[in-house]
Amino acid sequence: MTRHFLTLSDFSADDLFALVERATVLKGLHRRGVRYQPLVGRTLAMIFALKSTRTRVAFETAMHQLGGHALVITADDSQLGRGEPVEDTARVFAEMVDAVMIRTLDHGRVESFAAASSVPVVNGMTSRFHPCQLLADMQTYSERRGDIRGATVAFVGDGYNMCNSYVEAAALFGFQLRIATPPGHAPEAGLLAATDNAALVDSPAEAVTGADLVVTDVWSSMGHEGEEAARLAVFNGYQVTPELLDRASADALFMHCLPAHRGEEISADLLDDPRSAVWEEAGNRLHSQKALLEYLLLGR
Ligand code: CP
Repeated sequence: MTRHFLTLSDFSADDLFALVERATVLKGLHRRGVRYQPLVGRTLAMIFALKSTRTRVAFETAMHQLGGHALVITADDSQLGRGEPVEDTARVFAEMVDAVMIRTLDHGRVESFAAASSVPVVNGMTSRFHPCQLLADMQTYSERRGDIRGATVAFVGDGYNMCNSYVEAAALFGFQLRIATPPGHAPEAGLLAATDNAALVDSPAEAVTGADLVVTDVWSSMGHEGEEAARLAVFNGYQVTPELLDRASADALFMHCLPAHRGEEISADLLDDPRSAVWEEAGNRLHSQKALLEYLLLGR
């Protein structure tokens, strides 16, 4: 049966820990200049219906370094933009490429694509989940602080796709997640109900106090166009600052999937704070995506 990676819970906890560990091994090989090209002759097709910097660069570079090839199409420059059904597109792609990565708001479209695809499909971010980012975040925590099992993680801000994926990650990676969001912006209730490892709290201060990892995301993500001004007001008081981080544990880390909006969800100085791991986190998109592609395409 074809394996897809549409959300973290498509994989077992053992699979996910193995992927994170493998990502660090692949990073080491690359840093030592070792050429490792098990995907020679393989092609990844990437469909972007939304903008991207890190996801595109990570997957394209990953395929290049692994000896394969990546190609990009957008909804606008393909027949998808003229209404060709995703199921037909999936069948055609499977005749020509070895895996597909899709970024689009509608998670259901990615599920429909995957259901019709005989090659692995990867969720490159939808309005519901961003599982690839979580692989990089978990790798970064593991490399900096070791095992995340039993740690406390604080998510402050919008309970959107990143927060939903953190709720799933809490159960699978075995950490406790405290979530501070304004009323009406909590992550999906069904995801929260499915785990004892994630809970809503009343304030950013309560979420962050004693936490080992503090995470946030932008207040207006792709899909929130036109809501920016209203959201600035709603999320007032949810900015992550060095002073807020001072409430966390002494060796706490800060992560943000980027792009960041200084002066909104983070203070202007936060990315320069020694507790910020955001550049490493972004770089680990490459290594964790290599581990994912190796696993999906080679089964190891
Ligand atoms: N974090 C992330 O997914 O970045 P991009 O939107 O630039 O791909």
